[in-house]
Order: sequence, then structure tokens, then C-alpha cells
Amino acid sequence: MTTFSYAAEPATKIAADLLIVPVFQGPEPGPGVDQLHLAEAYAGARLSGKPGEDLLVPRGRGDRFVADAVLLVGVGPKDDFSVNEARRSLGRAAGTARRFGTAATTFAQAFGAREAADAVAAAAEGLGLGAYRFDRYRSKKADVSLRKVTVLGTARWDAKAMRSAVRDAAGLVDAVSWARDLVNTPAGDMPPATIAKEAQAMAREVGLTCRVWTEPQLKQGGFGGILGVGQGSANPPRMIELRYTGAGRATPLALTGKGIAFDSGGLSIKDAKSMEWMKDDMAGAASILAVMKVIAQRKPKLNVIAAIPCAENMPSGTAQRPGDVIRHRGGITSEVLNTDAEGRLVLADALAFLAEQKPELIIDAATLTGSCMVALGDKIAGAFSNDDDLVADVIAAGEEAGEPVWQLPLHAGYRRVIESNVADIKNVGERYGGAISAAWFLEAFVGETPWVHLDIAGPAYAPGGTDLSPKGATGVPVRTLVRFLEDRAEAAASRGGRRAR
Ligand code: BES
Ligand code: MN
Ligand code: ZN
Repeated sequence: MTTFSYAAEPATKIAADLLIVPVFQGPEPGPGVDQLHLAEAYAGARLSGKPGEDLLVPRGRGDRFVADAVLLVGVGPKDDFSVNEARRSLGRAAGTARRFGTAATTFAQAFGAREAADAVAAAAEGLGLGAYRFDRYRSKKADVSLRKVTVLGTARWDAKAMRSAVRDAAGLVDAVSWARDLVNTPAGDMPPATIAKEAQAMAREVGLTCRVWTEPQLKQGGFGGILGVGQGSANPPRMIELRYTGAGRATPLALTGKGIAFDSGGLSIKDAKSMEWMKDDMAGAASILAVMKVIAQRKPKLNVIAAIPCAENMPSGTAQRPGDVIRHRGGITSEVLNTDAEGRLVLADALAFLAEQKPELIIDAATLTGSCMVALGDKIAGAFSNDDDLVADVIAAGEEAGEPVWQLPLHAGYRRVIESNVADIKNVGERYGGAISAAWFLEAFVGETPWVHLDIAGPAYAPGGTDLSPKGATGVPVRTLVRFLEDRAEAAASRGGRRAR
């Protein structure tokens, strides 16, 4: 566990094991470099401030700083430097920071007062997220960790606001780390009932209302999609229902996430290679749980409901068969032509359940299609929507969070590919455009509700790691959705304020 704090002390005086300082490319050195008298050491090492460069300088006799060592990090030209780049650079520096144990950074000082709170939060996030490790299954635990982070600001900034930014960042790092833990834990140890237990424990801790729907209750409620996908597994399905009330009787916002504990493909079984990462098929569910945790702690003036379908997709004598027809919550029927297109089947029930409650909007996050990864690679989430303004807001939130989101078309010409011969719709379309036909399938269940579907099959899991994450689960899109919800609460408050005046 890392603890985070804010200080306006000079870089020379801060007593941390490691002090992390940015170096710009060009004439200006970057905050701290001059005071620390390290400009010459940097130039002497033939470095010029290019992104990716770094230089570790242990304190020597006569040095004018208190820290044990300084890490100089090249960040490129000052004019191109951004809060997102600061977060990423510190994510990369976090590996070194872990070796030292406590770290302070002047990175936020590179920004003006307008961006100060954002920069302070990003610095804490970068170090916290980059220092994440998953060692639950290692017999020898890591003997180093990042215990303490201090973000340095300036006396000109409002210290109270900066401390609150650091506190928010700490909560975000905690929630994202939890989501990563849930995803990184092998499916054998994280079946639907265990995901639900984790959700209940979280809800108790932060004060959310939580109801877990068991298999008989799902049957009673008509959740044929969740049941159909789960029926081949020895581990029965669940649905997790969470409620946050921060705005009395206001219309709620609704969230859902794909919670496939393991995706073998079912009888339409995957090959061995494609199954290797399929414990990550509940990354959408984990991210929505983490978002609810952050919201419960920050308490924005909003109401949020989440319904998270969890099931394990396994082949067996009780598994659903290609050709079977499912009746979803609300009555729409679907023909299951490929049991590996299971995410849309469980989400359909959750979307229908949420739409019944007439929310202002619905957002879902799902590791839904390999097709979306083919289109956008592993760094960008695909977004589909029936509401252009809403999806623009989600994309903007992703941009601020440093989690890129790109809109893909819910093109009307592709709706017919999911028409079925025997049921209302079928669960696979044509070979090409698979992310789009999957989105059209989901669309059938949201009715008129404004809705955004995030296909996170690519960015949810990083087999090679990212700047902000070691190999494995990334926690995408937790930070995007937290931003989106906070922006939404702020917009509602300023609308309310205007009306009152
Ligand atoms: N969970 C997979 C999608 C996926 C693939 C996520 C690779 C992450 C990495 C999903 O359930 C799936 O199997 N989708 C199929 C759909 C097809 C059968 C229509 C796919 O994308 O191949
Ligand atoms: Mn599948
Ligand atoms: Zn899947």
C-alpha cells in the first residue's frame, strides 16, 4: 500500500529516498534541475531531455539536496508537455521509485495554477499505478515497494485543493489496483460467486447498497442470457446490483460490465492460444465495481445504479448448444449460433434490467470482440452509441484520463446481419465488422435510453505492460468513467445553480 501526500517544500529540502524531476528538451531545464544543480550532470551524461531518457544521480558529498538520489527524466519540449505525459512519465519512473521506497516529485510544478490540481493528481496516479504489482501467487514476495509518494507543488497554489486532489488520486489508485487484482487472479480462484463476494465486501466497506442475484433468483427474474451462458459451468452465475444515492430522487445513471469469469468459448470452443488470457473476460465487471467504489468514496451529487452479470462460459453436457434459443430479461429472444459470442448474451439481460428503471443513460464496458482489437489495437477502446453528444462526453473524459477511446459506427446497414430465422435476433453476424454486429445486438436491449458501449477487449489487458501498468490487467476504463461521472455531477450542479438564481 502506497500512501500519498502533498507538500510545497523546495525540492532541495525534501527528505525522500528518491526525488523525481522532469528535464525538458531545449533551453529551459525543468522544475528543480537548476536548484538541485544537476543541469551539468545531465548534459555531462550527453542527455538532452528526450522522452524515454533518464539519469539516476545518487547524492554525493557537496550535493545541495537532502534526497538519497535524484532521477532526472527526459520529457521532450516544454511546449508539448501535458498532464497526460506527466502521468505516463511517472508511470515509467515508478519501477525505479519502488526500489527506493519513498519518492517525491516536482513534476506538477511544470504546470500553471489552472492545471495544478490535475497535474498534482496525475503525478500521484502515475507513480501509484506504475508501482502496482501482482504477487499473490509468488512464493517469494517482492522485497521492495513504493511506500510513500510526496507530490511537490508551490506556495502559490491552494494547499487544501491540492491535498484533496492527492486524496482523490489515492482513492483512484486503490480502486484501479483492486480491479487489476480481480482480473489478474486466475479464473479458478475468481468464479462468479467470488466476484460477487468481493463486491459485497467492497459495498459494506464504502456504504453502497448491494444485492447479489443467485441462480434461482435469476431464473425467477427471467435472466435467460446469464443463465444460458452459465449453465455449462460447475460455478453458477450471479448478477451484482449496486446502488449509490448521492442526489435524493434524481434520475439515476446506469452502468454495467461484462463479467465472464472465464471464457473457454463454450461448445464453440476456443483454441488453446486464444484461451490463455480469458481470465480477463471479467475486466468490464471489475472496472464497474471499481468505479462504484470510487463514487461511494467521493460522494458526487448523483444517483448511480450498476447491474453486473457474472457467469463462466464452459463446455459440458449441460452447456448451451449452438442453435439454442434464449429468452432474455424483458422477453426478447435470441438464437445462440456461436456460444463464444457470450458477452452480449449476459449483457443483454443486464441492459434490459437497467433500461426498465428508466435511467438517464447507460454505459457498458466489455471485453467483447477480437474484431475491435483488430480495428483499434490494444491501446484504444472502441465506443458505440445511439447518442452522439453522450459519446462525445465519454471520449472527452477518456482523453483527460489518458485512456484513449475512439468512436466506431453503429452503422444502420449492419443491423440486418443479426436478424435470425427463428428468434428475434441471433448472436453472431458476418465475419467482418464483428464489433459492430456485437454493438447492434446490445442496442436491441436499451430501448430509447441514451447508451454508450465501450469495447475494451484491447486495452483491458496488456500482455507486454504499458507505461502505467505491468504485464496483465490495466484497470481500463475506470479512470475514464470516474471522470465522466464527476463531470456529469458538476454539470448538473451548475444547471441547478442557474435555475435557483
Ligand atoms: N471474450 C471474447 C473477446 C476477446 C477476444 C477479448 C480476445 C479479448 C481478447 C469474446 O467473448 C469472444 O469470444 N468474441 C468472439 C465473437 C465471435 C464468436 C462472434 C470474437 O471476437 O472472436
Ligand atoms: Mn467468447
Ligand atoms: Zn468473452
